[in-house]
Formats: sequence, C-alpha cells, structure tokens
Amino acid sequence: MDEGTASRTARSVAAHRLDFARAETPYGDPDADVALARDVTDGLAAPHTRMHDYLRGRTAFFDHVVVRSIERGVAQVVVGAAGYDGRAFRYAKPGVRWFEVDHPATQADKLARIARLGIDARHVRFVAADFARAPVAGLLAAAGLDPRSPALFLLEGVAVYLDTDVLERVLGQFRAATVDGSVLAISVSLASAQGQARERFRASVAALGEPARSVLVPQEAARLLAGQGWRVIEARDRLRAAGLLTARATGPPTP
Ligand SMILES: C[S@@+](CC[C@H](N)C(=O)[O-])C[C@H]1O[C@@H](n2cnc3c(N)ncnc32)[C@H](O)[C@@H]1O
Repeated sequence: MDEGTASRTARSVAAHRLDFARAETPYGDPDADVALARDVTDGLAAPHTRMHDYLRGRTAFFDHVVVRSIERGVAQVVVGAAGYDGRAFRYAKPGVRWFEVDHPATQADKLARIARLGIDARHVRFVAADFARAPVAGLLAAAGLDPRSPALFLLEGVAVYLDTDVLERVLGQFRAATVDGSVLAISVSLASAQGQARERFRASVAALGEPARSVLVPQEAARLLAGQGWRVIEARDRLRAAGLLTARATGPPTP
C-alpha cells in the first residue's frame, strides 16, 4: 500500500460490515463501532456481490472467535492490521485490554476519527507498524502486552496483501510475544477461488492501490502456521474451505 495513504480496502470492508447482523453481548459499545464505520465510509455503498456474502461469513467467524475468547477469560486481544475494525469498542469489556497494530497511515486516520467522534479508547493500545519492516513482538511488549498471559491474535483480511515471507515473520513475531495456549484467528485465500473469481478480486484491490501479493490456500497456511509455532485447530470443512482458520500456540515452531 502507499506509504502515506490510509487503506481503501479497509474502508470498503467497513462499508460492507455496516450491513451485517453482529454477535450480541451484554457488554461493549456497538454504537461506537457503527459511528466509526459510518464516519469512514461516508455513504460509500457496499454492493451485494459474492464478496459481500463472503465478508458476512468472515465477520461472523471473527466475531464468534472474539466473543468466545472473552467469555473464556482471555483478557488481551491483539488486532493485527486492524483497519477500521471496531470490535475493540463493540466488544469492550472491563478488564480486557486491546492492542491494535496497523500500517501507520491507516492507524493515524483511524485515531483522528476516534478523537473527533469522542470514542472512548482508553482500553486500547495503538501500535503503528509496517509488517514488512518492523518486528512487532517488541512493539507489543512495549505497549504492555503481557507475554505470560494468554492472548487472542486476529489477522483478518490482510494475508493476501503481504508477501508470504512477511506474513511468516508476523506469525513468528506474534508467537514470540505470547505463551503456549494463546489462539490466533486468520483469514487466508479460499480453497476453491481460481480463475475468474480470483482475477476479479485481484483487479478490484489493485484498482484501490493495494495489490494482492500472495495466494495462500488453507492447506499451505496450516503448514506456514505450524512453522511459526501455531497449530491449526480442526475446524468445520465449511470454515476451512472459506480460508477461516484458528490456531493454537503449541510448543516451538516446526521447521
Ligand atoms: C482489507 S483491510 C482489513 C482491515 C481489517 N482487518 C478488517 O477486516 O476490517 C487490510 C488492512 O491491512 C493493513 N496492511 C496492509 N499492508 C500492511 C503492512 N505492510 N503492515 C501493516 N498493515 C498492513 C491495512 O492498513 C489495512 O488496515
């Protein structure tokens, strides 16, 4: 992505999400999430394409992982490449700390909007980092991530924008920042998307100035994750086929 430009694909995802029913919880501030999404999308329409349906399923998957982790007592959530994801507000719960890591240009734009909208973000630590350059384990530790307590790590909608070696480094850095038992949720390419569908996606994100840099299907992703100390948890076939994976930090990386 362009050095100084906030992510346009992140803005587009926010527009799609405004249409979706979301997991409900007795805690949190969904209105803050909606206010942020409305502010950034500023009336941008989300066409009801196949991408819209895919994003509906992806959003439900990540919502479910977040809510289940918080309900199991995980008190640290790291949102990698957060974009305009507002889950840190929607699912804010006393005692749970959030860490958002994102490309500096996107994060600066998000922070300006949060300040202007008066959204309470005191429970969120913001870490600006280009994954292609900065090792994030140290940055997360400096921001207060406790390496001895379990954390949930999210990488939603970003793998395709990273070269595979960069993604591998990020996974290694997340693993280095946390204990055995932590969970990571990641979206990778669909097992089935080929030919025309894949080309349509590539053309649409290239037109937004954020070209796809890699294709990682679920089976390859499971190997890459294992190599960095994350073992994929067996999932329903439907989720795996959609490239929606969860993995647990288990022992050392497997070469
Ligand atoms: C499609 S958006 C997804 C945003 C968010 N996860 C969501 O689902 O709404 C892609 C995100 O990846 C981030 N990104 C792309 N390349 C990056 C890099 N090299 N380092 C850090 N973040 C990056 C962008 O800033 C943007 O927030």
